[in-house]
Amino acid sequence: MTVRSTASKLVVAIGAVPREDDMRGVAGEMSARSRQVAPLATALAGRRDEQKRLRTALDDAAAGIPCAFLIHGEAGVGKTRLVRQVCDDARERGFTVLWGRCVRLSATEASYHPLLRALHDWAADADAAERARVLGSAATVEEFARGSIEGPRDGSGLFDALDAVIAAIAGGGPTILVVDDLQWADLASRDALAYLVAGFHRQSLALLVTYRDEDLVAAHSLHGWLADARRLPAVVELVLARLDQQEVQQQLRELLGRDPAPALLDDVVRRAQGNPYLTELLVQDLSPDAEQLTDRVSAALSDALLARWHRLSTQAREVLRILAVGGRPVTSTRLADVANMRDIDRATTAAALQDATDHGIVIDLGQDMHWFRHPLLAELLYATYSRAEAAPIHGVWAHELSLEPCVGVEELQRQSDLALHHERHGELRESLGASLRAADLAE
Ligand SMILES: Nc1ncnc2c1ncn2[C@@H]1O[C@H](COP(=O)(O)OP(=O)(O)OP(=O)(O)O)[C@@H](O)[C@H]1O
Ligand SMILES: [Mg+2]
Repeated sequence: MTVRSTASKLVVAIGAVPREDDMRGVAGEMSARSRQVAPLATALAGRRDEQKRLRTALDDAAAGIPCAFLIHGEAGVGKTRLVRQVCDDARERGFTVLWGRCVRLSATEASYHPLLRALHDWAADADAAERARVLGSAATVEEFARGSIEGPRDGSGLFDALDAVIAAIAGGGPTILVVDDLQWADLASRDALAYLVAGFHRQSLALLVTYRDEDLVAAHSLHGWLADARRLPAVVELVLARLDQQEVQQQLRELLGRDPAPALLDDVVRRAQGNPYLTELLVQDLSPDAEQLTDRVSAALSDALLARWHRLSTQAREVLRILAVGGRPVTSTRLADVANMRDIDRATTAAALQDATDHGIVIDLGQDMHWFRHPLLAELLYATYSRAEAAPIHGVWAHELSLEPCVGVEELQRQSDLALHHERHGELRESLGASLRAADLAE
């Protein structure tokens, strides 16, 4: 890239570094909560080991051993929240935090947006002397960057400029650079980060990058970047799993201001499966004394869960609704059999399943068993059918299930499922028969 084209890109970029509020409209499909960094009103549940690891690495960084963390997990699992907590604690220990957040854009690419945003926010808070030390004679980040590009440099001017500013900030004291939601970063920012990490030397700098791993379809351009990054010695990976039952209890205690009723805890664990964001939405309007969840799902929760499903093709959406009627994990062959009886050919079902898996909506549980990553989505999709619409699909599931006798626990499960599908198909006698067989097997 020539200096001129880099410069013009930068001018476009810095001329239009959008405020995050402006970006929501552009992004169009950000989920209901617009992925705001949540206020830290409640204490973090769990994540002790993760905080410890990060704190140790930050202490090393403060001593001149830089590090880069790739923190990943599914949407809503708490990546931003963890990093926020760690940064707040570090700030109290004297760290400077540069916070860059990437935004999902559809048609435009705002080059260097997260990095420039982070530097803007830093410049807004820094005192005049510190700003002058870091930016030299420039009064603003824009001026500095423009000068760096237009000065006597070779083509890599902007990388050097960003590198130099960040190094200068870190020269003044231990610094954390956060890049949140890297899956949406523009290519220029990713290159600049690779450049920064590859050039790590004795700096008091830690880079904390987060990304949603479920969003990365096989062809996502971030894979290549990650593969290269993982080969660098300073790079460490941190995977965030869902919260366990005890941690959900802890989260609910914070949210409700009291210990949750045991049935409520069970209900939340069953439906949100330890995803803290879904847990939050499930209990959003609940009275602290509630013994159980209501069946009603809030609009925010439904929007959050359905957003991805809406992005699939029409046929893939229908295949997933059929899967939802099935009510439990199934093999791709059985799903294809059922969908086939609903006039969806096998190739279409296979493509739909692949698409849904790529989008992180469905997961392969092993042995070709497929189910929704968030079982709550199955509930919501099921509710998109009226009783009358769902009835014939239950009939097809009942028919398919009746073809394959099993043994032991699986047979008990099959008879219970048959009872339910027959009942919802309006075949009460068959339903009763299956219930009785299930009861016999259970003894
Ligand atoms: N360990 C936790 N304890 C309590 N609440 C949590 C925890 N982790 C996350 N939360 C809450 O759950 C919600 C989702 O968390 P967060 O935004 O950090 O998720 P995320 O992984 O960054 O999601 P996304 O991929 O959408 O950016 C937030 O409101 C946050 O406060
Ligand atoms: Mg986040």
